[in-house]
Amino acid sequence: MQALATGTPVAVIGAGAMGSGIAQVAAQAGHEVFLLDQRDGAAETGRQGIAKQLQRRVDKGKMDQPALDALLGRIKPVKELSELAKAGLVIEAIVEDLDIKRSLLADLEEVCGDSTILATNTSSISVTALGAQMKHPGRLVGMHFFNPAPLMALVEVIKGLATNDEIAKRVYATAAQWGKKPVTATSTPGFIVNRVARPFYAESLRLLQEQTTDSATLDAIVREAGGFRMGPFELTDLIGHDVNYAVTSSVFNSYYQDTRFLPSLVQKELVEAGRLGRKSGRGFYNYAEGSQKPEPATVESMHSGADTLIVEGNPGPLAALVARLSESGLKIIERDGPGRLQFGEAVLALTDGRLATERAAAEACNNLILLDLAFDYANASRLAVASADQASSQATNDACALLQKAGIAVSQIADRPGLVVMRTVATLANEAADAALQGVASVSDIDLAMKAGLNYPEGPLRWSDSLGLGLVHTVLTNIQQSYGEDRYRPALLLRKNRFAEKGFYS
Ligand code: NAI
Repeated sequence: MQALATGTPVAVIGAGAMGSGIAQVAAQAGHEVFLLDQRDGAAETGRQGIAKQLQRRVDKGKMDQPALDALLGRIKPVKELSELAKAGLVIEAIVEDLDIKRSLLADLEEVCGDSTILATNTSSISVTALGAQMKHPGRLVGMHFFNPAPLMALVEVIKGLATNDEIAKRVYATAAQWGKKPVTATSTPGFIVNRVARPFYAESLRLLQEQTTDSATLDAIVREAGGFRMGPFELTDLIGHDVNYAVTSSVFNSYYQDTRFLPSLVQKELVEAGRLGRKSGRGFYNYAEGSQKPEPATVESMHSGADTLIVEGNPGPLAALVARLSESGLKIIERDGPGRLQFGEAVLALTDGRLATERAAAEACNNLILLDLAFDYANASRLAVASADQASSQATNDACALLQKAGIAVSQIADRPGLVVMRTVATLANEAADAALQGVASVSDIDLAMKAGLNYPEGPLRWSDSLGLGLVHTVLTNIQQSYGEDRYRPALLLRKNRFAEKGFYS
């Protein structure tokens, strides 16, 4: 399917944060862009904002002045809807309100020709509901950009029940032509990203609520072991807790209060206190001038008398950690066993979702120290560990000393099911698997959306393939059993693929 021809004008309605950004993207791709806003002067201000942004690029030598002048010449602030008649694609980015958007779409149907594509940038309203009263709902499609639109690569192309397939494909091709990474999704609450990402915030919020450790330590673990660009508390401070809490609540209610999406009282309290994050000067962290960000809790340098690491059986994902320890000069002995590591008094194992204390009892192994998942054990700079209540303090010391030998900072956290990164990845994969099962989007589009939309180091489904679905399914089953909560029920597709011994990509 062909993208919209560059010679076809595009209209953007709403010249706020999103509309201005979208207008810039379309103009950069060479389209003449009509920009309309109901507020007097807002379209002109939007255009000036774009000019200011791009002038910086010119000043840095990244764009030349004639190109900027030509681009700005293509953006035309207009006052009347009737001036949009020539547009081949109209993208609305007005206030997030079903009735107001419906009324605008009805007016647009009066003004635009039958072949004009109408797109909505809504982040939470059903495209199906928006199209329900239209004369030709087949031409309405969601074109969900991310903020800031000129910088964020992802565009979710959303199909409502009545959306014409060819039109969705044309919008997809157009987004690609504009240099974006489009994915296709059905019109379901949260689409892909705002649904699948919920556990990234929710699980850390819950771990914080359960006093596993503090927010700075959880952030550091998610970044330095998980490979995520920002930790959940830093990120929600940036997004704004009012916005993040509202999205969670909206997805939660839209899924008939499925506890998978349960909002957090910790975040609610921040909203009630007006601690909205960076924009209010305080959220989880204090942004007032002169205030310092708290340091993550890191175990001080430990000494161990042990000098040999015993690898018992196949260490699974921990193999890369063993290789790193071997490179650091540690003597390694391999023998049969259940895939654990022994160093001094410590018996180390990758979390399987059980409490360390419970697993130590089940495996008759008092000195059990559980290790968290790392995105890349070969390069992780930090790792979380949790000791069984039965473990001796020497066992914990030996475990910490072992990791420190490889230059890894250790964060010792309280014994909770699934540690931090493993729990985050398993629950993200769980949500992604359900979205795939329900046909919200393809497996590869779900992964692409999470990478391009949120800079995740890997798509959750590809990530769980590389861990092995057996492990991810076991982790979720064990967390579910630990809490006795439906919230952690493993997705059917994880279970099915596990027992079929295949991955999402094979
Ligand atoms: P905003 O408040 O910055 O801008 C909205 C603009 O629309 C305002 O300038 C307002 O005057 C104008 N407007 C309102 N009703 C209008 C009407 N009937 N006709 C013409 N202009 C009208 O809002 P923002 O953040 O740009 O959001 C716009 C849309 O994009 C919403 O649907 C929102 O859910 C969606 N969105 C927002 C994202 C974000 O991060 N801010 C991300 C992705 C989507």
